[in-house]
Amino acid sequence: MRFYPLDKLINLHDDYLRQFKIDNHQLLLMQRLGERFLIEAHCPHRGHPLVSASLVNRSIECSQHHYQFSLDDGSLLQGREEPCRGLRTFEIVYQGNEIGVILDEEAAQD
Ligand code: FES
Repeated sequence: MRFYPLDKLINLHDDYLRQFKIDNHQLLLMQRLGERFLIEAHCPHRGHPLVSASLVNRSIECSQHHYQFSLDDGSLLQGREEPCRGLRTFEIVYQGNEIGVILDEEAAQD
């Protein structure tokens, strides 16, 4: 397991939205109304980039087919026309003045 810094805390603000690539992981870090979320950057349905998704309360709605996922646990809230797994969410880790994520080094290179 290894800490991967994503950004300096001072850079985060409401409406912050930034995509990161760590080896084979593509992550999306966002802040809304003071809350921060870290999720996979592509929709589990058909892989559309979630950078263009809309946020409603504590959920995210993909702009492609409007499947909606909880930002808390990634569960699928809306959109069941085709089988779809939940959205992968990641725990945010703070280290000093940085915000980041802990990933399994092997998983990061999958
Ligand atoms: S690709 Fe996101 S809802 Fe279909």
